[in-house]
Amino acid sequence: MTNVATLDFIHTNRDRYVSELKDYLAIPSVSALPQHAADVKRCAEWTADELRRIGLENVALVETAGNPIVYGDWLHAAPSTGSGQAAPTMLFYGHYDVQPVDPVNLWESPPFEATVRDGEIYARGSADDKGQIFMHFKAIEAHMKQQGRLPINIKVVIEGEEEVGSVNLDRFVESQKDRLKADVVVISDSAMFDRGVPSICYSLRGLVYFQIDVRGTASDLHSGIFGGAVVNPNMALAQMLAQMKDKGGRVRIPGFYDAVRPLEAAEREAWEQLPFNERQYRKQLGAPKLFGESGYSTLERVWARPTFEVNGMIGGFTGEGAKTVIPAVAMAKVSMRLVPDQDPDTIAKLFEAHVRKVAPKSVEVKVTRMHGGHPWITSYDNPYVQAASRAIEQGFGKPPVFCREGGSIPVVFTFQKALDVPCVLFGVGLPDENAHAPNERLDLSNFHNGIVASAILYDEIAATR
Ligand code: BES
Ligand code: MN
Ligand code: MN
Repeated sequence: MTNVATLDFIHTNRDRYVSELKDYLAIPSVSALPQHAADVKRCAEWTADELRRIGLENVALVETAGNPIVYGDWLHAAPSTGSGQAAPTMLFYGHYDVQPVDPVNLWESPPFEATVRDGEIYARGSADDKGQIFMHFKAIEAHMKQQGRLPINIKVVIEGEEEVGSVNLDRFVESQKDRLKADVVVISDSAMFDRGVPSICYSLRGLVYFQIDVRGTASDLHSGIFGGAVVNPNMALAQMLAQMKDKGGRVRIPGFYDAVRPLEAAEREAWEQLPFNERQYRKQLGAPKLFGESGYSTLERVWARPTFEVNGMIGGFTGEGAKTVIPAVAMAKVSMRLVPDQDPDTIAKLFEAHVRKVAPKSVEVKVTRMHGGHPWITSYDNPYVQAASRAIEQGFGKPPVFCREGGSIPVVFTFQKALDVPCVLFGVGLPDENAHAPNERLDLSNFHNGIVASAILYDEIAATR
């Protein structure tokens, strides 16, 4: 049972939480852009200071080859009465880095001046992920301020490279298994199924990402003088990409689907019970018609099927007016979302082989692999998921539904493998809160209920002993 004073404290501090969150959101901690390196560093320091303010100990900035990891803990929890067993230890993970804000002119208020409109706080990082990690900071603070202690041991790891693939965090986790040892990992970096439908996520997709560079000639050419004698790299690239997927939405890379775990009948039936309105979904996306792999429902396509996407293409003349030219080069960024049990390294090899096969002899093709991560799935019948369900029910007035997510959090697989520990993903974002897009926002009632649910969660985890 969570102490009434602790919950009262949370309710009376609502406004302070929002104003502090605004300070956090004001730091442009964009990990993808080198010009924000100093801001990223400042954000790491702000996070560390905050961990100290809320009462955590051993707070440290762990330097890496990239952005610092912020660590803090509090390890004095007494065993819960009667059981005599040591109190459980929770590892909380999140990220303080954010995505770039472009196209910035589409923001209705500046991305790093958090603005509240209609019960939502608008800023880059509000939902992904500063608002959600701040929720746990405030839950920890409420326990510490009101009880002088926490009901469980807590270790906090906040990284600054999630949005660029968590490369250095993976190494940190592998090399610090003892320091990070825990009974459960808790993460709030995902979305609820829908407004008013709190959720626990039990599976994430993985990712492999590539850049493809195509070169046709040493320099751009006059399309009249040379047109007809050489290949056009834009066309060559488009034709290559067109061979990655068939018209039915199926990826044509040989072997791509070999390791895909088929959906179980029980899972398919459970998803059919979820309050999913396909028409509303389509309208919300502004799509004339939904499109995806034939034979699968929309939820199955985004949660349980792998994809191939062209993130961007560039080549030749795209300015105003008309220029007659055959460009020398063309480039595309492509990625594949992976599902259990696809392996990113295997898929990367299959992809590269297929690119080589479909590349015309008339161009030079360079394939560069970028970041990525493994897909993750867990069974949700463990005491920690039950503890989270009870906490969410108390915080949101409704028990959670269980869903998969199409997004990726690379470190979740690493935690599960390196620490051999259950991971509970309890996110309070909403699917339409524009993560990675202009006008990102976080619903403030979900934020506040999330603080309450988090505070209760720590007591519920204590009660598993
Ligand atoms: N928080 C997201 C992932 C996410 C979004 C999970 C929605 C579940 C629901 C995370 O910050 C993210 O954007 N991840 C990247 C990972 C990539 C850069 C390796 C992604 O999914 O594109
Ligand atoms: Mn995130
Ligand atoms: Mn993200």
